[in-house]
Amino acid sequence: MHVVLLGPPGAGKGTQARRLAARLSLPHLSTGDMLRQQVRDRTVFGRRAAALIEAGRLVPDALITSVVRGRLREPDTADGALLDGFPRTAFQAKALDLILSEVGASLCAAFEFTVDEDEVVRRISGRHICRRDNGHIFHLRTAPPRVAGLCDHCGGELHQRADDVPAKVRHRLAVFRAESAPLSAYYASAGLLRTIDATRPADEVTDRLIAVLGPAPAAGGGPR
Ligand code: AP5
Repeated sequence: MHVVLLGPPGAGKGTQARRLAARLSLPHLSTGDMLRQQVRDRTVFGRRAAALIEAGRLVPDALITSVVRGRLREPDTADGALLDGFPRTAFQAKALDLILSEVGASLCAAFEFTVDEDEVVRRISGRHICRRDNGHIFHLRTAPPRVAGLCDHCGGELHQRADDVPAKVRHRLAVFRAESAPLSAYYASAGLLRTIDATRPADEVTDRLIAVLGPAPAAGGGPR
C-alpha cells in the first residue's frame, strides 16, 4: 500500500500522514522531515539544503530522489508507505514510478488535498511543531497544545519553522503552483487520483482517507 499525499503547503498532509501511519501501521515518509533532520545533523546534504528550504525553494530533484530511493529499499516499507511531500515535480513522479517498480511495488492512490491559499496562510501562521524527533504538529487556534508551548505527547518545546513566515509561505505556494500542481493530471491519467476536501475538520479528513484506503488488517493478516 504505497500512497502519495499531494497538496499545497499547510494543506494538512503531515497531520493526516501521521494519523494514517498510526491507523494503518505504515511508515510515514516526509521528505520535509528527512531534509530538516539532515540540516539538524549538519550533513553535507543538509548544509546544501538548508538555504533552499529556508527560502522556500525546492532542493534538486536528483538529491531528494536518491534519498527516497534509499528509504524505499528499507525493509519496513515493503508493505507500503505514506509519501508526504514527494513527489513534487514531474521528474520526481516519474522517478517514483521507477523506484517502486525496482522494488516490485506500485502506487495504490494519490490523494490531492484541496484548500484555498488564504486558509493555507492561516494554518501555517498558527502552526507550532515539537522540536523533538516526533515532530508532533499543533495549531494555536484549531489544535492547541494542552500546555502553551509544550508538546502534549512528550513535553518537548514547540517552535515555528523558519520557512513558515508569510512572505516565504507565499513563495512556497508559487513554487507549488508551478512545479507540483501539474502532478494531479499525471496521477489522474494513471487512474490513481483521489481528491480530498482538506478544508473539512481534521477528523473528517481522516475518516474520508480511511474510507478510501480501508481499515488496517486484522492481527494475523487479511485484506485491506
Ligand atoms: P515540507 O515539510 O514537505 O512542507 P510543505 O509541503 O510546504 O508542507 P507543510 O509541512 O508546510 O504542510 P502540511 O500539508 O504537511 O500541513 P500540516 O499537516 O503541517 O517541505 C519543506 C521544504 O523542504 C520545501 O519547501 C522544500 O524546500 C523541501 N522539500 C521537501 N520535499 C521536497 C521534495 N520532494 N523536493 C524538493 N524539495 C523538497 O498542517 C498545517 C497546519 O494546519 C497545522 O498547524 C495543523 O494543525 C493545521 N491543520 C491540519 N489539518 C487541518 C484541518 N483539517 N483543519 C484545520 N487545521 C488543520
